[in-house]
Amino acid sequence: MKAVIAPVKNVLTAQDAFDNLCTRGIGVPGLGLYHGPSGFGKTTATTYLFNQVNGIYVRAMATDSASTLMNRIVGELGSSGMWRINKMVDFTIEQMSMYERPLFIDEADYLMSDVRMLETVRDLYDNTEVPVILIGMDQIARRISTRKQFFNRISEWVEFRPADLDDVMVMADSLLDNDIKVEPELLDELRKASSGEARRIVIGLNQIERLAKMNELDYVTAEHWGAQPFHGVRRPSLVG
Ligand SMILES: Nc1ncnc2c1ncn2[C@@H]1O[C@H](COP(=O)(O)OP(=O)(O)OP(=O)(O)O)[C@@H](O)[C@H]1O
Ligand SMILES: [Mg+2]
Repeated sequence: MKAVIAPVKNVLTAQDAFDNLCTRGIGVPGLGLYHGPSGFGKTTATTYLFNQVNGIYVRAMATDSASTLMNRIVGELGSSGMWRINKMVDFTIEQMSMYERPLFIDEADYLMSDVRMLETVRDLYDNTEVPVILIGMDQIARRISTRKQFFNRISEWVEFRPADLDDVMVMADSLLDNDIKVEPELLDELRKASSGEARRIVIGLNQIERLAKMNELDYVTAEHWGAQPFHGVRRPSLVG
């Protein structure tokens, strides 16, 4: 499998939304929210974006407070962060403004239960007006709507959707080694078995690639694959 990011619709929509945030007009707020179920490719799409723009990426954690979150952000900015929280906030504001570095906060669900963390992130945005993107699971959209001051600053929402057949084809084309091609019928079986979840599609494509390599196939059909599952226990492969 190739270590690349397939340009599926969720990635393209996330890119579009991010471009809108960066080029927004005066008065349009600059917070973005990407949300969707686990395994749908949110972190992968975010990686793709922040690498292009020298963004700051941090992952919130269950045990975080405003201070530990700021510590991690300052760490990403290359500083040791052994300071008081107000110094860390000032330093981050300076860095974000000076170099126009957007901030991406993954697993942002953990921010929702802590007003101080949310307010700190809002301070970072209000003092820089540089885009801040929160990435979280389904619940985040509902929970954030009750935080009005935050909610009103969000101008781009992206809900990550299950992959459709076109997306699975794009993933197969981008990820499979040796130009291995797969019959659309088999890709559609994989899509259904994975409920459109990117993580499980990638696991299934990896299995298809193994079958192709072991049997020297450059085109894998549903018939080659047979009735075996894409995930979990599998019977021995097609040929010897
Ligand atoms: N566009 C893509 N191209 C290639 N691989 C992808 C793509 N999207 C997702 N994947 C694969 O699926 C796996 C899961 O994706 P990712 O971690 O981005 O999901 P997530 O939505 O952030 O899930 P979680 O909510 O559990 O953090 C990744 O490790 C990657 O292997
Ligand atoms: Mg993730």
